[in-house]
Amino acid sequence: MDHVIDNIYNHPVYYDLVFASDWVAEFKFLEAAFKKHVTGKTKRLLEPACGTGRLMYRMAKAGYVCDGLDLNEKAIEYCNARLKKHGLKPSAWVANMCDFTVKKPYDAAFNTINSFRHLDTEKAAVAHFRAMAQAIRPGGIYCLGFHLTPLEGEATDRESWSARRGNLSINTSMWPRDKDVKARIERFNLRFDVYKPTGMHRIDDCLVLRSYTWKQFASMIKKVPEWTIETAYDFSYDIDEPIEIDPGTEDVVYILKRK
Ligand SMILES: C[S@@+](CC[C@H](N)C(=O)[O-])C[C@H]1O[C@@H](n2cnc3c(N)ncnc32)[C@H](O)[C@@H]1O
Repeated sequence: MDHVIDNIYNHPVYYDLVFASDWVAEFKFLEAAFKKHVTGKTKRLLEPACGTGRLMYRMAKAGYVCDGLDLNEKAIEYCNARLKKHGLKPSAWVANMCDFTVKKPYDAAFNTINSFRHLDTEKAAVAHFRAMAQAIRPGGIYCLGFHLTPLEGEATDRESWSARRGNLSINTSMWPRDKDVKARIERFNLRFDVYKPTGMHRIDDCLVLRSYTWKQFASMIKKVPEWTIETAYDFSYDIDEPIEIDPGTEDVVYILKRK
């Protein structure tokens, strides 16, 4: 068996096969959130850490102007190639979500499934929200989905997924490697077992994520006064069911409003 240790984001075909099928609930929720929480119309969207553009592409297809940025060149190449293939503008660019500028502000932004937790220091997180404040117009929103550290009960930190397209099938699993509570750094093993007619190979990666309790997130966001926490939902993506954040809350989609 071939076995490599590599950043999984360097393998956009595999990443996209595993995660792209999960778009409908997020897409519907985001559209409903724009309608409910943006002041004025929503036409222009931004996705920081857009990766392969699994959501960006759906938004562009639905008629929004949707731009995205990501640190990974291979993911951006894949994202733009797919947009082009479908007659859409290749509107993703390589950039760091802590340090970027835009030509014209957007009405709303979204960043789901923990990508923001890749920013491993408070300084980087604050820089991200400052850059986002420049990128979103007053009255706009930023939908931010990630896992908080629950202070009651066990964290759900083991997951597995499978996906298949034609002759390609992939089994993926993620499990904790170690957690440094004081430094607020959690490391997860991530394994992709890829099966093709020519054989099987394995890619192992280690995801490094910064942890947030709800209080740590609230105190960080206060450092960027352009943002206010408007409300929050969970990963059931039900726009009619906002949640109250409490010590047991784990999955959360914050709606941050640009003042
Ligand atoms: C879990 S993937 C999510 C991709 C996409 N948003 C989605 O929903 O499928 C996380 C992405 O964050 C990107 N990323 C990590 N750190 C970044 C940074 N500092 N600036 C921009 N992108 C970053 C990675 O390259 C990766 O594509």
